[in-house]
Amino acid sequence: MFYPLAVVPFSFLLSCVQAIPTSSHSLVSRSPHNSKTAIASLWAWDWRGVQDECPFVASAGYGYVQVSTSTEHIRGPQWWTDYQVVSYDIISKRGNRAEFKSMIDACHNVGVKVIVDVVINHMTALDSGTGIAGHNFTHYDYPGIYDYNDFHHCGTPGDEIHNFQNETQLETCQLVNLADLNTESERVRKRLAQHANDLIGLGADGLRIDAAKHISPASINNILSRLSRPVYITQEIVDTTGKWIALHTAAGKVQEFRYAWTLKSAFITDGISSLRDLNDRGLINSNGANVFVASHDTERLNSTLTYQSNHRAYILAHVFTESDAGAPSGGHCSGDGPTSGWECQHRWPEVTGMLDFYNRVGESKMNHWVTGTNQQIAFGRGSIGYVVINNDGSIWDATFSTSLPDGKYCDIVGGLSTAEHCPGMTITVTHGSFTASVPAYHAIALHVGRKH
Ligand SMILES: *[C@@H]1O[C@H](CO)[C@@H](O)[C@H](O)[C@H]1NC(C)=O
Ligand SMILES: *[C@@H]1O[C@H](CO)[C@@H](O)[C@H](O)[C@H]1NC(C)=O
Ligand SMILES: *[C@@H]1O[C@H](CO)[C@@H](O)[C@H](O)[C@H]1NC(C)=O
Repeated sequence: MFYPLAVVPFSFLLSCVQAIPTSSHSLVSRSPHNSKTAIASLWAWDWRGVQDECPFVASAGYGYVQVSTSTEHIRGPQWWTDYQVVSYDIISKRGNRAEFKSMIDACHNVGVKVIVDVVINHMTALDSGTGIAGHNFTHYDYPGIYDYNDFHHCGTPGDEIHNFQNETQLETCQLVNLADLNTESERVRKRLAQHANDLIGLGADGLRIDAAKHISPASINNILSRLSRPVYITQEIVDTTGKWIALHTAAGKVQEFRYAWTLKSAFITDGISSLRDLNDRGLINSNGANVFVASHDTERLNSTLTYQSNHRAYILAHVFTESDAGAPSGGHCSGDGPTSGWECQHRWPEVTGMLDFYNRVGESKMNHWVTGTNQQIAFGRGSIGYVVINNDGSIWDATFSTSLPDGKYCDIVGGLSTAEHCPGMTITVTHGSFTASVPAYHAIALHVGRKH
């Protein structure tokens, strides 16, 4: 089963929000049980910022936050310094071990689970240096942790990956000169599992495995088999064909980049009416996929929709206008707008409105699909919700048939309603139908939990 439309509805605004599918499947045993499955990605936020944000994250209906790497890394202002590991001490630009633990405890206290980014494929790309906690290293020597024999030396020129279609090279050669751990060795597997278990001991509920395409599936499975308890696993595997992600589905979820690329082409060029057959495009099915509209990498690379793509009047900050730019300092939002350099997409009322929709409709089947132009679609989700998306430059005036019970509904794209107040449009469903004028580049969404 594939339920992509659960998150398509306002996808052009859902940047940095991901969804964990809920369907029953053996892989789900790796997911902590949680009825709320959306993840707010607070990438590059410091631990205090995440801690302060968790109450909002909880109240908006997210089940998880996904946070940056936690381990000692090389020095420098660029974002990618986080991904060059110097030691497994929990100290990074995001904070120290005590702050990390305090963040996890605080998020748990409000019912939010925490997924931590982990780098287990490699150490650094430098010849030598000093990490931010003061540990000295050379390319293949991390005193007290690894020495030359703990790394792959694949034998290609520069020990680099030259052919990205060759699995041996992908898994045993260096990616952009990053010293590639010999994850086939017992000693390395044991050390990596020890690190993962340290995070789990501190309360981590999930791991996002960076560069998973560059670790053999057998090694990932072996390392995960040593975890002290099952946690949610999602693997970063950038893959245009599906060949590489298919190798990794036994270890956990895979990030389905093709989903995000498909959304971008639909919203920008092909027309969103083309998303009708999204189930039939050969993507990893929703039991195994971790889907998103944009990630920290795709935003910088402009390969998916980004917070800068939508046509609406959001303030266009320029956080990642340079592809090496570091994160804005700290991590804090206040109100709904961007502060301290963060866009805070997870707080946008349209996003939290659609999260409310997503949580409410669950896996209800799609029905009543209609299109206007090729940039206008509308569909129901069982007898629980209905959404209209107008990604076109003119108003969409139409009458929509639904399976909704009759009554007055509040459009939640306009903001979450209370019993007394509907900040958006009020829509009346009569004999299962309603008529609406949806402005250009707007959407409306109704569900039975927000009747008015
Ligand atoms: C790391 O190297 C620097 C200079 O190269 C030296 O001053 C420092 O004492 C070294 N630190 C450790 C912990 O060995
Ligand atoms: C893949 O790369 C390895 C290492 O360079 C090489 O030995 C092997 O022949 C290559 N395999 C294929 C199918 O090209
Ligand atoms: C990002 O991609 C979109 C759509 O392909 C394009 O319109 C836009 O100019 C690109 N932005 C940058 C900064 O390259």
